[in-house]
Amino acid sequence: MNDKGASELLVDGLDAAYGASQVLFGVKLEVERGETLALMGRNGAGKSTTFKAIAGLLPPRAGRVMVRGHDVAGQKPYRIARAGIAYVPEDRQVFPEHSVEENLEIAEREGVGGREWNRARAFEMFPMLQPLRGRMAGRLSGGEQQMLTIARSLMGNPAVLLLDEPSEGLAPLIVQQIGALIRRLRELGTTIILAEQNSRFCLAVATRVAVIDKGAVVWRGDVAQFRADPDVQARYLQV
Ligand SMILES: Nc1ncnc2c1ncn2[C@@H]1O[C@H](COP(=O)(O)OP(=O)(O)O)[C@@H](O)[C@H]1O
Ligand SMILES: [Mg+2]
Repeated sequence: MNDKGASELLVDGLDAAYGASQVLFGVKLEVERGETLALMGRNGAGKSTTFKAIAGLLPPRAGRVMVRGHDVAGQKPYRIARAGIAYVPEDRQVFPEHSVEENLEIAEREGVGGREWNRARAFEMFPMLQPLRGRMAGRLSGGEQQMLTIARSLMGNPAVLLLDEPSEGLAPLIVQQIGALIRRLRELGTTIILAEQNSRFCLAVATRVAVIDKGAVVWRGDVAQFRADPDVQARYLQV
């Protein structure tokens, strides 16, 4: 059913608003299996709102959110998660009073992606978490918490991972490690949308780019096309 190249997530005509203030205007995004799509845009452009609307935390006013061909727009967040969307918010929500291992265990389940991910594989993929497995998650550093939230989101065996600014506020060495990790996930066939302002980080890990500005996608292309177009960077991103 899901051939390589099939669309894992297709978002079309997505409108979203906070009360009377409309923030997204017909957002369109598509990500195919195994791709890492960088969703780039300035602060306030609408990246996080796009993720919240996809994940159901901010029910969209209009549009389709197709996960492997099923429209989940407007459904409850837990149903959208079950359909295969793993959303990792900017603020790295871990259960602070639970150990690293418990944080993973709570999230472990067979998902639309099968049973590929479990705790044992997570500790292989995130070796820095191994010696911390008994530590309370609230006592981890910011970088370790970011690793844990990404690991935890994989425990549900999702179709698509939405990572909201995973490099934000972290030391350069940790940012590099997270970049390497995302690249490895991509090599393993994980489908990812990465919201970022940091274009250097993004371009090192992504396959394709969509640029969002004032709540609409204004540019899309592959990474090579993006690099060859300094104009788009100057116009829509802080360089
Ligand atoms: N909870 C909220 N209530 C009202 N407006 C919001 C809220 N969150 C974000 N916004 C507004 O929505 C717009 C898009 O924000 P956001 O999606 O967070 O952008 P980004 O993630 O690209 O920085 C901004 O103008 C922001 O001020
Ligand atoms: Mg944001």
